[in-house]
Amino acid sequence: MLTLNFEHLIDKIDFAKYQSKVNAIDEMIEKRTGPGNDFLGWLRYPETYDKEELEEIIKSAAFVRENFEVLVVCGIGGSYLGARAGIEALKGLHPRDKIEIIFLGQTFSSDYIYETLEYVKDKKFAINVISKSGTTTETAISFRLLKELLESKVGKEEARKAIFATTDKEKGALKTLSTQEGYKTFVLPGDVGGRFSVFTAVGLFPMAVAGIDVRKVLEGAHASMEENRGSDLAKNKAYQYAIVRDTLLRKGYPVEMFVTYEPRLVQLGEWFKQLFGESEGKEHKGLLPDSATFSTDLHSLGQFIQDGSPVLFETILFVNKPRHEVVIPEDKENLDGLNYLAGKNLAFVNEKAYIGTLAAHEETGRVPNMLLNLDKLDEFELGYILYFFMKTCAMSGYLLEVNPFNQPGVEVYKKNMFHLLGKKGY
Ligand code: PA5
Repeated sequence: MLTLNFEHLIDKIDFAKYQSKVNAIDEMIEKRTGPGNDFLGWLRYPETYDKEELEEIIKSAAFVRENFEVLVVCGIGGSYLGARAGIEALKGLHPRDKIEIIFLGQTFSSDYIYETLEYVKDKKFAINVISKSGTTTETAISFRLLKELLESKVGKEEARKAIFATTDKEKGALKTLSTQEGYKTFVLPGDVGGRFSVFTAVGLFPMAVAGIDVRKVLEGAHASMEENRGSDLAKNKAYQYAIVRDTLLRKGYPVEMFVTYEPRLVQLGEWFKQLFGESEGKEHKGLLPDSATFSTDLHSLGQFIQDGSPVLFETILFVNKPRHEVVIPEDKENLDGLNYLAGKNLAFVNEKAYIGTLAAHEETGRVPNMLLNLDKLDEFELGYILYFFMKTCAMSGYLLEVNPFNQPGVEVYKKNMFHLLGKKGY
């Protein structure tokens, strides 16, 4: 269960002041009348999703798990971060599963792409290419290389059975290519934007291949959808968190540091940054989302957070119960002086680091801390928090009076790059 704690925000949040504004925005979201309303397909997706397609996703994932050693997920931004965040959060950083999930299509780096192709070339690999537009250059280049490698290795016919495409239902270069080549395709619905697509095949197919029970992820998302519904600020946790973010931004904290105490949640931080950064960073507004993993980053960014420019607040996602227990052993010699911890488990130490850091940052550093606590992190809770953040983001973006569902700024670099690359029409 997700619990929010507002007791460490330095000043009290005036939720009541926001209620009428929140009522109006909630109505705008529900009635789909605000800017970007044609991209609100995610809002009821945990209920309205295509049940038949989910069965197909699970069936195809089982086929891939049974027949391949590696799945290469080829996508970028919203077409990649959710799957990666979910897989790492639930499977950890060194999963010893029968199939490995690796990622390509998110970079132009020739070294990264070369190394990945070299890594898979002697393995039995399948590909899941994901692109809504079907024209994203990073993804398209990597897919062309992967496809060529696979076809040269196993022949066109076998390659066809190993390629799964997730894209728009009707349009785009990837859709055309997939139809022509006869690939199995999954749909990224037209009214769901990339960074809100984790509950579609974009996130669910790679997660299912990784052995995650995606039905439970959807159940968690559904529970979150129900619990974070309605404009009542006494009940809607996602909206409460949006108010905290908006209040702190207006108070002069332009940076939100998303903090976890779990290395397996680093990619969740990446997903978080894209969700909020791409949704809110518009018209010279918005919080800059950053992320850190403690205690690791206490030994790098910790100094700045404690003592540097007072520009940030922290949002801590702390998981109370880790998936695995590690007990610190007794040592006869005690040369390292650690016997005072002998018999204690690491969850105990991690929790004390969390409580001690919270006090240091709040009391001495005067850094506001927003606390999000999870009892544990399983499939259900993952679905719950991902939907929770998406709902927060919709409210938070509309509080800023921007369209949370477009990303016009991203096009500028593309235009320049295409011009420099000599693409026709640029
Ligand atoms: O959130 C978004 O809309 C973007 O990050 C896209 O997901 C990203 O640019 C990839 O686009 P596409 O799926 O069209 O390849």
